[in-house]
Amino acid sequence: MVDHQIHCQYFSQEELLAAGCLDLRMAMTAVEDALRAYDRGDVLFPEKIVQIFDDATHERINCLPATFRQDKICGVKWVSVFPPNPIKHGIQNLSAVIILSEIEHGFPVAFMDGTLCSNVRVGAMGAIAAKYLARPEASTIGLIGAGEQAKMHLLAMKAALPSLRQCRVAAKTTAEEDQFVRELSPILADVDICPTGTDLERAVRDAEVIVTATSAQAPLLQADWVAPGAFYSHVGGWEDEYAVAKRCDKIVCDDWETVKHRTQTLSRMYQDGELSDDDIHANLVAIVTGERPGREHADERIYFNAVGLAYTDIAIAYAMFTRASEAGFGQDLRIQKEMIFEHANLKNWVRL
Ligand SMILES: NC(=O)c1ccc[n+]([C@@H]2O[C@H](COP(=O)([O-])OP(=O)(O)OC[C@H]3O[C@@H](n4cnc5c(N)ncnc54)[C@H](O)[C@@H]3O)[C@@H](O)[C@H]2O)c1
Repeated sequence: MVDHQIHCQYFSQEELLAAGCLDLRMAMTAVEDALRAYDRGDVLFPEKIVQIFDDATHERINCLPATFRQDKICGVKWVSVFPPNPIKHGIQNLSAVIILSEIEHGFPVAFMDGTLCSNVRVGAMGAIAAKYLARPEASTIGLIGAGEQAKMHLLAMKAALPSLRQCRVAAKTTAEEDQFVRELSPILADVDICPTGTDLERAVRDAEVIVTATSAQAPLLQADWVAPGAFYSHVGGWEDEYAVAKRCDKIVCDDWETVKHRTQTLSRMYQDGELSDDDIHANLVAIVTGERPGREHADERIYFNAVGLAYTDIAIAYAMFTRASEAGFGQDLRIQKEMIFEHANLKNWVRL
């Protein structure tokens, strides 16, 4: 008699954290492997489905699937972005869940928090870029923005560049900067994390690594503040003046064709005729595979912009699922005990 039960494992964010899944090196490895797999044609990556509920606020829920044929794993990220949440309700903007299914029989294997995975992916992407594009011995990082992405980016940059010793951070309010210092200092004991009293220039001038991760829609970062040799990771929307990209020796994206059609600074520059395809050095995957060079000189200024490749979220989710389930975390979630017409009680349950 064939067993027709279907089970999967459920992982809360807390279980993933307790299982050691906030591991930026693990995430970087998963993302680099995923980029190579995509390059080999091993990844199915259909268009995302977007449902916008409010044209003014862009409150939306997106559905982003991807499959890794070799790993025989298919996943989907179901992610809500509700920008008014923090100010209106004091709650987070982004929340996500992920479902993973095996593709031998097509059954689900995991249902898990996806917010951690999503934020880790943004950091991991920046960190992989830093690994190939920043000065390997970089010791100073300057951040504009002190929110969720900035925090994860600092952890990720430290994973990529262990020589980082000093971090300067500027945000819209000193309270946010103080909170940033309070939360990150205990984790990064060997990094001196300094608030700047909302002085953006002080945060980034002469830093070897610069990150902007803000909710601003304004040219905050100025080209004059970006020193020769700096690596700049642009995370938010419009947050730097056009001259920053113009002065950079290399511009690298996660996927330039996608960036072109968004609302990031580079997208605006492209739409305004200030940037063309020829100005883009490479997509990150070409650097990871060695097809294009990364940093070639100590004095190069290098600009990196990622808007998110959802198959990398699924790759990280699979790595997290594997680690957490091997460590004995997760709760059994029974989807079905038997097939529909096998249920002995079915005649009592059917409504005609
Ligand atoms: N590239 C990606 O893949 C990706 C993924 C997720 C989020 N994002 C983007 O990253 C950005 C940051 O997201 P978050 O979750 O960290 O947001 P958040 O609300 O937690 O933090 C935003 C930060 O921006 C700062 N800020 C806003 N205006 C500023 C100004 N004028 N001067 C200085 N600081 C200012 C705030 O002080 C705050 O620290 C958003 O734009 C978000 O859309 C990008």
